Amino acid sequence: MPVRGYDQTFHSTDRDEARRLHALAAAYDGMTHRLLIPRLTGSAARCIDVGAGVGTVAAWLASRGCTVTALDRDAGLLHASEHAFAVVEADVCADAYRPGPIFDLVFTRFLLMHLSAREAVLDRLLSWVKPGGWLVVIDGFDVSSPLSGDPDWLATITAFWAAAQGVLGTDTAWVRRYPEPLLRRGLHEVGQRTDLWEVRGGTPQATFFQLTIPTFRSRMLASRQVTAEQLDRVARALDDPAFAEFGIGLSSAWGRRPLSGDCVDAQDAAEQA
Ligand SMILES: C[S@@+](CC[C@H](N)C(=O)[O-])C[C@H]1O[C@@H](n2cnc3c(N)ncnc32)[C@H](O)[C@@H]1O
Repeated sequence: MPVRGYDQTFHSTDRDEARRLHALAAAYDGMTHRLLIPRLTGSAARCIDVGAGVGTVAAWLASRGCTVTALDRDAGLLHASEHAFAVVEADVCADAYRPGPIFDLVFTRFLLMHLSAREAVLDRLLSWVKPGGWLVVIDGFDVSSPLSGDPDWLATITAFWAAAQGVLGTDTAWVRRYPEPLLRRGLHEVGQRTDLWEVRGGTPQATFFQLTIPTFRSRMLASRQVTAEQLDRVARALDDPAFAEFGIGLSSAWGRRPLSGDCVDAQDAAEQA
């Protein structure tokens, strides 16, 4: 089965897509705020959230006085509510949106991991950062397999990540190399942190899995890594507050564009290495 890609798989018009992305936001916005606060250079900061989903991070940045753009290739969910930020509907893998280096903060969460053109997109995002501005990226990876004590969950989450790779082209091995892609591009003040998140029944993390697994279900079953009975048991367990297993690790990386001089072009750097 060929890789379909994110844009062929999830759509703002899908019945549960708003709920699915709001669950993601509810799970990870708190840690995102803590990561971004030290990198907001002042109330006049100009920021862009790329692949903004339902726009909760963009709204939070605007509430702190930043001038904010939310970009998504499918802006249906951004248009759905009142907001205090500009919306750009654009595919970050294409070259149509060319703001130049105008942003104090370029932020993206759970996007690069799903894009096969992630290296070229990272170059593009960096070209939007002002000299002295920040690039901050957050992506997820599989931490459940070595740590899980529940065979149903272990089978489910193993098949889940394999299906994400097969259907979306998700590459969590690349994510685990953070902050190397930022160092290679010559960013300054580069940092990285890893967070492990338990999926507890009844929490937003659990809701996210409950709403995402059905999209991958046939692929997961075809892989024979998990059975329909196991998926049904996990679906019920995800409602149970006593359920707690590891599901997603978060790798976050940040770096600052040098004040003078260009950043290293990643392709040149790779050729010189
Ligand atoms: C997994 S969701 C993450 C949403 C949000 N960043 C968050 O963390 O809550 C990925 C988002 O990226 C958007 N996206 C996917 N491919 C894109 C592309 N090529 N260009 C721009 N946005 C894209 C999707 O429409 C979706 O809103």
